[in-house]
Amino acid sequence: MRKQIVAGNWKMNNDLAETRALISDLAKQSKISNAEVMIAPTFVCLGTALKHSSNLDVEVVAQNMHYATNGAFTGEVSASMLRSLGVQTVILGHSERRAYFNEKDNDLAKKVDAALSNNMRVIFCFGEELADRKSGNHEKVVESQIKNALFHLSDDAWESVVLAYEPVWAIGTGETATPEQAQEMHAFIRSVLASKYGNDISSEVSILYGGSVKPNNAKEIFSKPDVDGGLIGGASLNAEDFYAIVNAF
Ligand code: PGA
Repeated sequence: MRKQIVAGNWKMNNDLAETRALISDLAKQSKISNAEVMIAPTFVCLGTALKHSSNLDVEVVAQNMHYATNGAFTGEVSASMLRSLGVQTVILGHSERRAYFNEKDNDLAKKVDAALSNNMRVIFCFGEELADRKSGNHEKVVESQIKNALFHLSDDAWESVVLAYEPVWAIGTGETATPEQAQEMHAFIRSVLASKYGNDISSEVSILYGGSVKPNNAKEIFSKPDVDGGLIGGASLNAEDFYAIVNAF
């Protein structure tokens, strides 16, 4: 069944002490929604986050990984290494990875395969830039990002894939897509999936929205029928704000 998910992407924030402190703040919050809650600390803080959140209803996930199993890839981390720590889910294709680390659709297709073959769940991010939106090409861009990185997957693989639509112009800018723009794109994404995989699969995939989701706009965005949750950056660094978003369902 389609799940509601709120995932906090901590990006390159929080050292070990700050990770412990934020998790202890998270532990003080109460969850009144049915959404699955995830947090994504940096690689170096994953072990600590796993240890300190073991009593919480929160999954600790990774922000990225390499597609190779091991080898001469200085500075990289593989799916099996994440699995060996106890991490079961990875965010792939975040726009900051695409923009600053030059990750292309074909690299992302390999990362998705590596994660799935290690029995990991994938949160796959994509979204258009402002120029694409202004020129009316946003749907075309999103469609090609999905097709290039994901359309080689089998039907069964979709059980382990969550999508995160994040318009680049809304990330960290304070500018969100309107709930209507989010709904329109999410419905379009479902139609793209249905064109290859059929309605049964497309209606079961969770599609998260990301980009300046805050306590004051989450409820309206999450109320849209094709929006199944959020990928939260800035607001996930404050436990109260994050849980206000989790409880917006
Ligand atoms: P933001 O980041 O909530 O700070 O806009 C979202 C994201 O990058 O996933």
